[in-house]
Amino acid sequence: MNPDELRERHKAVLPEWISLYYERPMELVRGEGFKVWDSEGNEYLDFFGGIVTTISGHNVPEIVEAVREQAGKIFHSSTLYLIENQVKLAEKLVSLSPISGDQKVFFTVSGTEANEAALLFATTHRGSSEVLALRSSYHGRSFATMAITGQASWKPTARSPLDVSYVANPYQYRCKFCDGKCNLLCADDVQGVIETATTGHVAAFIAEPIQGVGGFIEAPPGYFERVKSILDEHGILFIADEVQTAFGRTGSHFWGIEAHGVEPDMITLAKGLGNGLSIGAVVGRTELIDSISGNLHVSTFGGNHLSTAGALANIEYILEHNLQQNADEIGGYLKDRLIKMSENNPAVAEVRGRGLMLGIEIVGPGGEPDPAAAVRFMQECRTRGVLVGKGGIKANAIRISPPLTITREAAEEAANVFEEALAIAGATEKVG
Ligand SMILES: Cc1ncc(COP(=O)(O)O)c(C=O)c1O
Repeated sequence: MNPDELRERHKAVLPEWISLYYERPMELVRGEGFKVWDSEGNEYLDFFGGIVTTISGHNVPEIVEAVREQAGKIFHSSTLYLIENQVKLAEKLVSLSPISGDQKVFFTVSGTEANEAALLFATTHRGSSEVLALRSSYHGRSFATMAITGQASWKPTARSPLDVSYVANPYQYRCKFCDGKCNLLCADDVQGVIETATTGHVAAFIAEPIQGVGGFIEAPPGYFERVKSILDEHGILFIADEVQTAFGRTGSHFWGIEAHGVEPDMITLAKGLGNGLSIGAVVGRTELIDSISGNLHVSTFGGNHLSTAGALANIEYILEHNLQQNADEIGGYLKDRLIKMSENNPAVAEVRGRGLMLGIEIVGPGGEPDPAAAVRFMQECRTRGVLVGKGGIKANAIRISPPLTITREAAEEAANVFEEALAIAGATEKVG
């Protein structure tokens, strides 16, 4: 269907606050590996993967076949009945988990719901409604997850079922603490907040190992270690929101938090878990997952037949093809290219991230965030056949996150496009 006509119909019946990329929005109608096609037949390299989700690629035969086979047997039964693939997937996740000891898994249909459940387990176990969250974080769009989301633009309500205190964001590029040399004073802020803004009896601290919507911001080495030691002193649980960083996306490690040498009490998952199928999960210590009372809880759709069949095939695919290693190698190449092309480009403040989770912070002539230039960059990439995303509280960080199956050749092609688009995006600002 013609995208302009579809846009008009979308406007008439869908909420006006649903964000659409590009001045002329597009419909993606087909995908193959790391390539996608829009409804007008244009081909693109997919360097955003439907918001950091299509981790193994589009139309992967092994995953498609697993879903097709399951669809031909039974779609739905609910958690009132045993589901073999649900059990297998839980066993798989526990065997891969960065958490030690006895663990269980609760399946949901989204990242929002996974975080919501993790917060329920943490607050119940600890007998406290108090939670610490990071500024600039993003954790979902329910009341509890908006309450722990540290970005005004993703928080349409201040109502909260939790008592949330925000701690400083370990954002090295715009660090307000250490004046050039990192002394991890931002981590010490956690102690200060516990002492001054809470009762002292806090349930949990939640953080993304690399902030996704926040603009792919990575904490400095040692940050999580120091924070964890503060949390341990107070018995506070640590929830790692791995919705974007799991399954080898960050290249160096299978789980994002592993790069920081600390063990969380729970991790939350979604996005890459299902390679686009609607599935989320909380993996955590048994005593936490089992902390809610009663024997009466159900989930109609959580861990359903279709999504668990697809997610299992997806995880197998990631492991069998060693996609983590590919993310490390191709991500390393791309990051080097981005750093080189940015050296003499004042529009680039910072290239950051790891593996295939790379960000470019775009700024104006005075170093101020330049969201308009980020939009221009995205458009120039689109025109040249590459799709990327953006994020950051000022919407000026470009997000690059292709499927982990991306090849060196495709990465080179995309890097050439980024180079051209960066030159144009930055230059327009100065001329105009
Ligand atoms: C880190 C993180 N947590 C949670 C969520 C919410 O996930 P969902 O959109 O599946 O509800 C997102 C979504 O972007 C996310 O990036």
